[in-house]
Amino acid sequence: ADYVITGQWAKKAAAEAERYGKVNIVASSADSTFDHIPTLDPSKFDPEADYFYITLNNTIYGTRWTELPDTGNVPLVGDMSSSILSQEIDITKFGLLYAGAQKNLGPAGVTVVIVREDLLGNAMDFTPTMLRYDIHAENNSLYNTPPTYGIYFMGLVFDWVKRQGGVAALQKINERKAAILYDFLDQSELFRGTVVKKDRSLMNAPFVLPTKELDEKFIKEAKEHGFENLKGHRTVGGMRASMYNAMPIEGVEKLVEFMKKFEMENK
Ligand SMILES: Cc1ncc(COP(=O)(O)O)c(C=O)c1O
Repeated sequence: ADYVITGQWAKKAAAEAERYGKVNIVASSADSTFDHIPTLDPSKFDPEADYFYITLNNTIYGTRWTELPDTGNVPLVGDMSSSILSQEIDITKFGLLYAGAQKNLGPAGVTVVIVREDLLGNAMDFTPTMLRYDIHAENNSLYNTPPTYGIYFMGLVFDWVKRQGGVAALQKINERKAAILYDFLDQSELFRGTVVKKDRSLMNAPFVLPTKELDEKFIKEAKEHGFENLKGHRTVGGMRASMYNAMPIEGVEKLVEFMKKFEMENK
């Protein structure tokens, strides 16, 4: 299988796949702390690969694929855990998509898998039954007792998404939220976004201040003003603002207002 390493989740997925078969790393942005989506050289793709793997939105580093790779007849497999329902995508481009529920869908504990029917039934002999998508598909996802409360919650979220006008409407709101934050970062003399502009995520925006001391001061003061979870992932430091579907535009406006004030006081 071909893998593009764009962050920790892709790295972990590739390491897991190594246990079952041959993994070909097509490209990686590890050298620059995953601050961009690497440019692909199609001559490195394996035309015989069983699938080609990408992480659509890199939660920790704040990058996303804005253009899908053309993998020809090799099925594209995508981890959409942190961007599902945040923007419209062409589902026909994928052989398989999966997403943990806990960002845009509902409580942790449910994973959504969308798989092309002709790809079902290719599991290796030793694959545990619970990991066989053909078994789940044949049994209408009721082969075992599913996490009913989480699924009920997801149903409520899907109804909410429809009431907002569907994914297209949410995409507009998400683009607006991201623009408010990134526009501020681009003109700020104190704060700096860490991701190459063309690959910026709509969901997770990492940013830094000139020193670690200022980062800490900002996170502390932000918390005192009611802004939660702004600390960046422990492996990258700095700050990260996550703007999942449940975050209203006002939330981002309030954050930017606070950042402006912090800049004035700490320049
Ligand atoms: C893109 C992505 N993939 C995978 C995972 C792992 O999800 P889980 O903790 O449910 O295994 C995460 C968690 O944040 C994620 O953001």
